[in-house]
Amino acid sequence: MNQLLIALSIFLFLLLLVFISVALSERRKRLQLLRKIRKKGKDRQPPPIDRSKLLARALSLIKEGIVIMDPYGRIVFTNRFARELLGIDKEDNGKFFYQAIRDFDIVSMINEAFNESYRVWQDKKIKDRYVQVIFGSDMDEKVLLLIDQTPMKKYENLKKDFIANASHELKTPLAAMKISLETLEDLCSENPKALKYTTKALERVKYMEQLIEDLITLSLLESTNLTLKLEKLKLLPLVKEILNNMSELLSSRRIKLSIKIPENAEVYADRKLLHAILKNLIDNAIKYNREGGSLEISFNSLRNEDEIRVCDSGYGIPKSHIPFIFERFYRVERSRSRRSGGTGLGLSIVKLATEKLGGKVEVESKEGIGTCFSVYIPKRYDIITSDL
Ligand SMILES: Nc1ncnc2c1ncn2[C@@H]1O[C@H](COP(=O)(O)OP(=O)(O)OP(=O)(O)O)[C@@H](O)[C@H]1O
Ligand SMILES: [Mg+2]
Repeated sequence: MNQLLIALSIFLFLLLLVFISVALSERRKRLQLLRKIRKKGKDRQPPPIDRSKLLARALSLIKEGIVIMDPYGRIVFTNRFARELLGIDKEDNGKFFYQAIRDFDIVSMINEAFNESYRVWQDKKIKDRYVQVIFGSDMDEKVLLLIDQTPMKKYENLKKDFIANASHELKTPLAAMKISLETLEDLCSENPKALKYTTKALERVKYMEQLIEDLITLSLLESTNLTLKLEKLKLLPLVKEILNNMSELLSSRRIKLSIKIPENAEVYADRKLLHAILKNLIDNAIKYNREGGSLEISFNSLRNEDEIRVCDSGYGIPKSHIPFIFERFYRVERSRSRRSGGTGLGLSIVKLATEKLGGKVEVESKEGIGTCFSVYIPKRYDIITSDL
C-alpha cells in the first residue's frame, strides 16, 4: 500500500514538473513574440519629421507669393509663386531684397515701406497677373505677400464689359421710345388722362436714359484703356457752362448762387472728367438744397494741389450715411432722390473721375445745415501720371 502511495506521489510530482515546464515554455514563447512585435514596430516607425521642409513644400504649392526677409532686408525664404513673379533665383537666399527681386516697382515699394509696420497696395500688375501686395514688418522679420487677384479681375472685367455692352445696346431703342413718347405727348394735349400717362412714361424713359448714360460713363472710367487728355483748363468758363445748362433747375428752386473763382484760375485735368465731376456735384447741391437755399462754388490754390469746393445749404447728409455715399446706387433718402430723378451713380462717377486725375474728394456735412464737397486735384503732371 505504501509503495502504491509513493509511486502515486512520484507520478503527481512528475506531472507537476511537466505542467510547470510547459507553462514556462509558453510564457517564454509569448515573451519572444512580444519582443519580436515590438522590434518590428520600432523598425516601422517613420523617420523624424522635418517640419520646416514640409511647410516650405506646402507653401510652394499655393498660388500666393511669400517672401520673408531678416530685419536688414536679406532674403530668408521665398516660395515658388513669389520666385516666378519677382524673378528671384532659388540661390538668392541671403541676398538683399534689392539684389534678388527683379521687379523694380516692388523694390521701390519695399524701400518706401521698409520702416513702416504695414502697407497694402491694390491691383499691382506684375507680368500678366494682378496682385495685391502686402508688406508687413510689425515683427522682427519683414514679410512680403503677393495675393493673386487675376481670376477675380477677369470676372470683374467680364461683368464690366457686359454692363457696357448692354448699356450701348439699350441706348438706341430707348432713344426711339423717347421720340415716340414726345410725339405722343404733343398729340395728347387735348386728352388730360392720356397726357398724364404719356408724361409719366416719358419721365421714366428719361430716367432710364440717364441711368444708361451714367453706366456708360462709369464703365469708360473703369476701362484700362481710357486715354486722358490732360491740359490746363480755365475753371470759371467751365463752371458757368454747367450752370447755364442747369439754369432752369436753379431758378425753379430759387437757389442763391455765389461763385468765388478767380478769372484766371486753372486746373490741370481732362475736360470731360472735370466736367462730369463738377456737373454731378453742382446737380446734387441744387437737388438736395432747400427751396431758396444757397450754393457756393469756390477755388483754392494750395501748395501741391487745387481745391474746388461745392457747398450748399441743403438737408445735409446724416453722419452714418457718409461712408457709403460714394458707392454705386447708394441713396440716403431713396424717395427724395428718386423724386428728383437720381440714379445713385453721380458720386461714384465723381470719385472715380477724381481718382483718375490723381486727386481725391472729401465731404463735410451737417444735417439741416448743409454739405460741402471738396475736390483736390494735383497741380503737377508727374503726380497725376504716376497714379494712372
Ligand atoms: N449735396 C448733398 N446734400 C445732401 N445729400 C446729398 C448731397 N449729395 C449727395 N447726397 C446724397 O447722396 C446720395 C448719392 O448721391 P449721387 O449723386 O451718387 O446719386 P443721386 O443724386 O441720387 O443720383 P444721380 O446723381 O446719379 O442722378 C444722394 O441720393 C443723396 O441722398
Ligand atoms: Mg447726384
